Amino acid sequence: MIRTLRAVVRLRRPVGDRTARRLRGAANVDDLRDMARRRLPAGVFDYIDGGAEDELTLDRNVRAFRETTFRPRVLQGLDELDTSTTLLGRPLAFPLVLAPTGFTRIADPAGELAVVRAAGRAGIPFTLSTMGTRSIDECAAVAGPGARLWFQVYAWRDRNLIQALLDRAAAASFEAICLTVDTAMLGRRERDVRRGLTLPPEIGPGTFLDGIRRPGWTWRFLRSDPIRFANVEGLANGGGGARSGEITETGGTPGTGERAVDLAGYMNAQFDHGLSWDDVAWLRTVWDGPILVKGIQSVADAVLAVEHGVEGIILSNHGGRQLDTAPAPFDLVPAVASAVATAVAEAGAGRIEVICDGGIRRGSDIVKAVAAGADATMGGRLFLYALAAAGEQGVDHVLELLRSGTERTMALVGASTVDELGPDLLESR
Ligand SMILES: Cc1cc2nc3c(=O)[nH]c(=O)nc-3n(C[C@H](O)[C@H](O)[C@H](O)COP(=O)(O)O)c2cc1C
Repeated sequence: MIRTLRAVVRLRRPVGDRTARRLRGAANVDDLRDMARRRLPAGVFDYIDGGAEDELTLDRNVRAFRETTFRPRVLQGLDELDTSTTLLGRPLAFPLVLAPTGFTRIADPAGELAVVRAAGRAGIPFTLSTMGTRSIDECAAVAGPGARLWFQVYAWRDRNLIQALLDRAAAASFEAICLTVDTAMLGRRERDVRRGLTLPPEIGPGTFLDGIRRPGWTWRFLRSDPIRFANVEGLANGGGGARSGEITETGGTPGTGERAVDLAGYMNAQFDHGLSWDDVAWLRTVWDGPILVKGIQSVADAVLAVEHGVEGIILSNHGGRQLDTAPAPFDLVPAVASAVATAVAEAGAGRIEVICDGGIRRGSDIVKAVAAGADATMGGRLFLYALAAAGEQGVDHVLELLRSGTERTMALVGASTVDELGPDLLESR
């Protein structure tokens, strides 16, 4: 019996660090999501996890990948597997960019700084949101050498504010900007409506109970500096067209992010609903680097984007948080990639990157998007769940899951480089 036991019992080497121990059990993004759900107050989890209205687009973004199967090739004599590629002319360790997310510090006090550092270690770009909770300068200060930082721009009514942000981003060596175009109004996220979500969470009877149920999060939240809109504080009321009086705050200085705000009210008051393609031309006059348009959801608009000379198109429906029943970005990739290639050839334009944003939960999703014609993918919740589950170590963990998943899938479909990924590897649905 002892001999049999000795043959089958292998004790796992103990892992000293508690967080590392917890992460050993997180095999995929869904596991990290479960861990996040257990650590966050319900309202905070729903803010990250939820989507607009019936959440059909949120669901479709993920399902579009799951319903597509591979047509794998074997015996391809794979020597070395190489997941690296280039994007905007610079190297990328694997085809993923971290998406802009507002209020990131609600998941963990380190917020964007943890994500910037983890993205740098993983060799992929990080995009800071206008609604970020760490400033352009704070992010630049922790970015290591060679780190790639992008800045996401919302169409604020106050053009002076946008220009001031872009000047800061340029001074801090941010590489590219993404103009988000899918937020003519803020989508109706019904989980937030039901919970009466304010950001940062306001202490009312509901949130108080929620907080007691998640004492670890509450303790970290109360001990850290107040969560604020770090990029727009001090600028949001800086004259121009900003209509500060419309911000639905519950007290304090409007627009600084010091006090809780009703996010929908705040953003709907600040955003310019008149945004048009002319504004892309205006952006060109105030930003020297690459411009990507985030939120393209049709072939027609992808072609218009080429005609307006942008360097990249991000197929996105804001992670299913804006227009419900909008198409899943992955479903759009083949038609958009081919229309963009034709439009680029006709216009004699330079290279235009097509990025598929939303629903990425596994390395195999990244491989499918690239095989369908995207140059890279973008993802938000994947790192937010990880950040909420285990802080910066969680983000390192999820990025390694996605990198190794990309590598493994490439091997199993018979491709040794990203350039070898093509539509022939996908079975049509
Ligand atoms: C909590 C949260 C906040 C977000 N905030 C922003 C934002 O400030 N600006 C923006 O352009 N997109 C924002 N997005 C959308 C993401 O950039 C991205 O499009 C989306 O997360 C992709 O879907 P995925 O979460 O399935 O990867 C946010 C998404 C989430 C989940």
